[in-house]
Amino acid sequence: MKVLVATGSKYGSTREIGAAIGEVLDEAGFEVEVQDAADVLSVHYYDAVVVGSAVYGGLWRRDASELVRDHMIELRRREVYMFSVGMETVVRPGQKLDEADGLARDVGAKTHQRFPGALEYDHLNVGEKAIIRALNPPRGDFRDFAAVRNWADQVASELRAVAAV
Ligand SMILES: Cc1cc2nc3c(=O)[nH]c(=O)nc-3n(C[C@H](O)[C@H](O)[C@H](O)COP(=O)(O)O)c2cc1C
Repeated sequence: MKVLVATGSKYGSTREIGAAIGEVLDEAGFEVEVQDAADVLSVHYYDAVVVGSAVYGGLWRRDASELVRDHMIELRRREVYMFSVGMETVVRPGQKLDEADGLARDVGAKTHQRFPGALEYDHLNVGEKAIIRALNPPRGDFRDFAAVRNWADQVASELRAVAAV
């Protein structure tokens, strides 16, 4: 079974979460490719797609949301798992992710998982720093790779069950 793991990431924390998911699926015996969402030309080749994005201002990175929108018809015929990465999951777990939830619904995703991200204030541009000073979320790396690998293990078991049918 061929699996694509694609991520929309600006500063790399979501890309590394995608890489960890890819490793788990690879170890589970799937044929895995890990790519930036912007580099995905087609989903035709894959049986399953895991797509995730960093959240900025409540929205997915455009490359990730466009990947889902542009390939909606083909994705609907495949096993799709989605995840969102952000700091709101650390501060206010209730943040609504209407866009990503809507995409998950439209594409028939099995799950839409949230993971805490990483915020390196010094790396941000001037505009982003202003937003972060105003919102004052926690700064630092809150990623929980054990939780990420755990979720990827669940995805692997579900895909194994589908492949066995
Ligand atoms: C300007 C800005 C806006 C952000 N907005 C949100 C948000 O609305 N919700 C959220 O959960 N996280 C938000 N974050 C946190 C990022 O999603 C988090 O830092 C993430 O790990 C970044 O991923 P990346 O390194 O892959 O780009 C924001 C970060 C910045 C810099």
